[in-house]
Amino acid sequence: MSSLLRQQRVHAVWWEDDGEGAAVCLLDQTQLPAEVVHLRLRHEQEVADAIRSLKVRGAPAIGATAAFGLCLALARLLREQGEGLTCAAAYAHFLKVAELMRGTRPTAVNLFWAIERMQRCAERLAKEEVAPSYLVQQLQAEAQAIVDEDAQACLRMGELGAELLQDGDHVLTHCNTGMLATMGWGTALAPLYIAHRQGKRIHVYVDETRPVLQGARLTAWELSQEGVPLTLITDNMAAYFMAQGNIKAVFVGADRVTANGDVANKIGTYGLAVLARAHQIPFYVAVPRSTIDLSLASGAHIPIEQRNPAEVTTIRGVSIAPAGVQVANPAFDVTPNHLITALITERGIAYPPFADSLRQICADD
Ligand code: MRU
Repeated sequence: MSSLLRQQRVHAVWWEDDGEGAAVCLLDQTQLPAEVVHLRLRHEQEVADAIRSLKVRGAPAIGATAAFGLCLALARLLREQGEGLTCAAAYAHFLKVAELMRGTRPTAVNLFWAIERMQRCAERLAKEEVAPSYLVQQLQAEAQAIVDEDAQACLRMGELGAELLQDGDHVLTHCNTGMLATMGWGTALAPLYIAHRQGKRIHVYVDETRPVLQGARLTAWELSQEGVPLTLITDNMAAYFMAQGNIKAVFVGADRVTANGDVANKIGTYGLAVLARAHQIPFYVAVPRSTIDLSLASGAHIPIEQRNPAEVTTIRGVSIAPAGVQVANPAFDVTPNHLITALITERGIAYPPFADSLRQICADD
């Protein structure tokens, strides 16, 4: 199965170092599916803006992007200041950029997890007063390790999750949790890709995912790239298809899972979980370890991002609501643990009671 890693055709973010210096490269997700546009970002501010504006999005992908953004910031400083740069000044700049990255989006814990991991590495090297060029090199290696480990985690979630799928299953998914959202095959989409490659005839119902349409624009696009059969539906059609007996399971990802197994994910996920329970359909959440936040007791403590009302009042720049109308735009909701059948992680499948199974999953840290 490991050759599958090399067969991945879509990449959300990667690092390049060319004649002009280092760059964080992104597939601009705001342009999909109309155009495949690759961005080469050369300043940390551009990286932060790209995360905020959803050019790159999805919990593991924004963590990896922030890690690359920190490397970019120090590589740029080193290029500008050369011999004059001290380790202490480089570390001080690192801390400033870490704050910039932390301020981009509040809900996905992977962002904070990746920045924390980079900061631990930078702090250790700063204490040793290493040469700034060595600091940059080691930070790049750490960021690449975050990327590689996420790709491996996706593959493992895919293999474990595929075992839950039978030939001919129709499943429903929400938002985008695939190659565009991670450094590998995805979280909730990975089992579907792997099952498809194993020859199981899987059919995916894709929620369009208002207001930003990650399902319609991104999931439908990347499943099509891989030849996975799909049907795109609007968010309010899910109950109809469940009632018809068409849906065998729901697969979603998450931006943060708390110690008791509550799950924050794209707005609309909670509603799907309620519907799945009403129709006795299994509700699976696929998450890498980096999405599990044992420091929070329950979902009530998860900060929920409130986004620009224009995302609700316009579609692709066209107004669909009266000017000045009052709007709410929470980007995520919290699904309580009792609605979740299982959490698929790279370390195994966690079943209720999640307080116990998650503690076990995280025991190896
Ligand atoms: O606002 P987004 O597009 O970053 O939201 C993404 C999601 O909600 C995904 O379902 C989530 O990150 C988990 S899967 C990678």
